[in-house]
Amino acid sequence: MQTSRLELVRLSSGHLEGFHAIWSNPHAARWSSRGPCKTIEDSREWMSALLVENSPMAEKYAIFLRSDLPASELEEIQRDAPDDSPLRTCGMIGSMGSWSADPVPELGYIFHQSAWGRGFATEALSAFLQVFWANKPQFDTLEAYSDPENMGSVKVLVKCGFIEVERQSGNYELPWMTPPKRDLIRFRVTRKQPPN
Ligand SMILES: CC(C)(COP(=O)(O)OP(=O)(O)OC[C@H]1O[C@@H](n2cnc3c(N)ncnc32)[C@H](O)[C@@H]1OP(=O)(O)O)[C@@H](O)C(=O)NCCC(=O)NCCS
Repeated sequence: MQTSRLELVRLSSGHLEGFHAIWSNPHAARWSSRGPCKTIEDSREWMSALLVENSPMAEKYAIFLRSDLPASELEEIQRDAPDDSPLRTCGMIGSMGSWSADPVPELGYIFHQSAWGRGFATEALSAFLQVFWANKPQFDTLEAYSDPENMGSVKVLVKCGFIEVERQSGNYELPWMTPPKRDLIRFRVTRKQPPN
């Protein structure tokens, strides 16, 4: 699946190194109750639960820059990127996808910190939704949870058509955050019905 700047490919065990580079950053992983993956073995274990062979209903993608980006556009993207950024090596910049939560599938995503603030999450999610509706005809809704203080995530969801359906107060804990007891917003997007 391609967007104007990105390529989304099915997450597979070959993506472990890129997955670990993203999930080993405590700042990027701070909104997840799982927390950062400290070792590559942590990442292997976490990633294997998301692979389609272990979770048949999962629809998970690894995200890369398109390999055919014009040189000038690539240069612009790479200009301020740190030396170890996957933007420089055209490596994996994020992952996104859904898994089967009961009764409604749930969306999750994370990007390498060096790729934040460039519109990549919004671009990837718009494309992901199209594929999700096409590949999962049995579902008409997709949900996502975000901490209200995770403004980047809230904005991505709203820009892609999710609406807030519930606010849960202090019902999950992130020990490294202040305060550790966190609120959650449940967002939902619904399949657009074709006009009659
Ligand atoms: C949340 C995340 C995916 C956003 O990715 P991104 O590629 O930077 O998002 P975009 O560039 O598409 O930004 C979408 C909007 O959010 C805004 N935004 C991004 N990060 C922001 C932040 N930290 N604070 C406020 N607004 C922010 C952007 O400015 C943009 O708004 P605009 O269109 O009005 O300019 C990324 O920060 C990330 O991976 N965070 C860690 C993992 C995570 O939080 N996952 C979601 C858990 S619910």
